[in-house]
Amino acid sequence: MKHLTFTFAATLLLCSAMQAAQAAPTAHVNKGKQLYERNCAACHGKQGEGRGTAFPPLYRSDYIMNKPQVLAASITKGINGPIKVNGKSYNGFMPAIALNDADAAAIATYVMNAFDNGGGTITEQHIRQSRHKK
Ligand code: HEC
Repeated sequence: MKHLTFTFAATLLLCSAMQAAQAAPTAHVNKGKQLYERNCAACHGKQGEGRGTAFPPLYRSDYIMNKPQVLAASITKGINGPIKVNGKSYNGFMPAIALNDADAAAIATYVMNAFDNGGGTITEQHIRQSRHKK
């Protein structure tokens, strides 16, 4: 547990370092990126740019901006029904994505940082909490 917390803190640090200095990506940063590309990019795009009128963007999304708990719940519970993202209306369905806590946390941390949603670290505990919330 301690080790994982450290891993996510390190990921976060590396992300800011990359933005500042364009340092070479490391395995930690790549984990969230690879998991994102495997589990989310088909619908939301590689850069989180979204797709047409059905799939909202994750890049600078005001739906999740500075709201990591909303992002965590989107992944663990899915989303159904009308939502608004950056002034555009969507009324689709996103299934809950089947991921373990560690992988979901890595993706969420990647999305908060790489797509400029206010940064922060989402831990496995945040993910677990989102699973239990109504
Ligand atoms: C099968 C397609 C699909 C996949 C795969 C998918 N999503 Fe979604 N996602 C959607 C749709 C459709 C919506 C809009 C739902 C609505 O209109 O109610 C959405 C909405 C969202 C939103 C809220 C709106 C926004 O743009 O901020 C977030 C956050 C999100 N998805 C994150 C993710 C993450 C992270 C993953 C990967 C773990 C993922 N999604 C995988 C289809 C998908």
